[in-house]
Amino acid sequence: QYNPHRIWSANMEFPGVLWLAFVPISVAVVSIMMARRRATSFLTTKRSPPPPPTAAGAPFLGILPALVAKGPLRVLRDAHAEMGSVFTVRLLHRKVTFLVGPDVSSHFYQGLESEISQDEVSQFTTPTFGPGVAFDVDFVTRREQFRFFGDAMKPAKLRTYARLMVREVEYYFARWGQSGTVDLKQELEHLVTLVASRCLFGEEVRAKMLVEVATHLRELNDGMRLVTILFPHLPIPAHHRRDKARARLGEIFSDIVSSRKASCPDGSRNVVDDMLQCLIDSRYKDGRATTETEVVGMLVSALFAGQHTSSSTGTWTGARLLARANAKHLRAAVQEQERIMARHGDRVDYEVLQEMDTLHRCVKEVLRLHPPAMMLLRHARRSFTVRTSEGVEYEVPEGRTVASPLVIHNRLPHVYRDPESYEPDRFGPGRGEDRAGGALSYTAFGAGRHACVGEAFAYMQIKVIWSHLLRKFKMEMVSPFPETDWNVVMPGPKGKVMLRYNRRGMSTAA
Ligand code: HEM
Repeated sequence: QYNPHRIWSANMEFPGVLWLAFVPISVAVVSIMMARRRATSFLTTKRSPPPPPTAAGAPFLGILPALVAKGPLRVLRDAHAEMGSVFTVRLLHRKVTFLVGPDVSSHFYQGLESEISQDEVSQFTTPTFGPGVAFDVDFVTRREQFRFFGDAMKPAKLRTYARLMVREVEYYFARWGQSGTVDLKQELEHLVTLVASRCLFGEEVRAKMLVEVATHLRELNDGMRLVTILFPHLPIPAHHRRDKARARLGEIFSDIVSSRKASCPDGSRNVVDDMLQCLIDSRYKDGRATTETEVVGMLVSALFAGQHTSSSTGTWTGARLLARANAKHLRAAVQEQERIMARHGDRVDYEVLQEMDTLHRCVKEVLRLHPPAMMLLRHARRSFTVRTSEGVEYEVPEGRTVASPLVIHNRLPHVYRDPESYEPDRFGPGRGEDRAGGALSYTAFGAGRHACVGEAFAYMQIKVIWSHLLRKFKMEMVSPFPETDWNVVMPGPKGKVMLRYNRRGMSTAA
């Protein structure tokens, strides 16, 4: 019976000649299938992008000779101009991949600790900060310790610190004469140590051993050289001085911590409202109290993190505002103080400081051009792909040291107009250049997972100092604009920054 759907049936005879045709057809079909599979797998298996281009360097030494001859700013700028926003340099035995600018930095700032971490590249700070804190402890403990700092920097605390800062600054400048010439750098080093000590420990340090503490802090900073990153225990004089200074600071602060604890032997809370008390009262999530070693380490870390960074920012602020080319910015900052004094008289507190937008922008612009942390480091625990704004992809291999060079990150012409010029108004209404390249456009205080917890404290401190100077003194810089000291990990102004001042009689009528 005819069935139109049946094209073959068992009783039909398969013609022999067709068997012969079947073999080459099957071979052809299989070949086509295999070819298709190869083509598909070629299209679907993502090939790893190439590694970032590597800068030429001297045998064994890598870019070290160039660094010594030209300084980090020029070396990095040249490499960036030649190779683009992602490139690798070799420094002795270590390869470092630089990610320049917001477009290529999201993994650096926002990646998980399990993917890109600080631990492996920050061990060099342990001789400075000491045992039991920062990179001497595991990640979870460290996060908790940074949380303690964060708690000690909440607005309610900042209000108290603002009062202490204002008192300390007024007291300090009252000692200046009617007129005179001073080294601004040295003055601000002292003043910032005084102010920070006052907020951190109350009267204990300020009264007893301020000069000694300031000297040891300077030794700690000087002991963190570029060579320290690679060889933290290299027996050089700067490291010996650092170790002695750290040991002595440990003794001084241990005495303070134990006498503070002794003043509350029953474990009840002390009423003193400074950072030391916050750290003593802090508790880990499992209920454990902070130990004396940890509190001492956290005090040293907080002082170190805030002292040199703030004093050098304060000095650069003076150097920039008093440079002849920036007269209009100085005028704008003075006029802002006049307006604020017309409203509030001589009162300066947390709220009044929030009104100093012009001064805030002057300091922010200083930090863009002179970031105290010139580069931030991470370790790639896993390889990752980075894509440039031109669409080129690179694979940064596992185990690589990765760097975000703030010295050039915040000077990119596609983010900042005329990036080399000092232009505080670029952050003002209608311009907002610090957001032009997205959330990572401005990174003087870091960003993302490890953003600075002391930013508000630092701004407050510098604004208290500079609002006072602008109100009370006419100033002139009588030394050349300072160069940068690139020898240390946190570069600041090199040499003396000489300032001539005359007291002024600014009207304070509210
Ligand atoms: C002008 C002053 C300051 C500048 C420019 C500055 C800059 C920075 C930068 C760039 C980072 C990020 C580090 C990284 O990502 O690897 C950072 C982190 C940090 N800063 Fe500051 N800092 C300043 C003042 C302070 C002060 C006064 C404190 C006081 C305690 C402080 C405490 C910290 C801490 C604890 C971290 C680590 C945060 C974390 O990893 O979660 N800083 N700072």
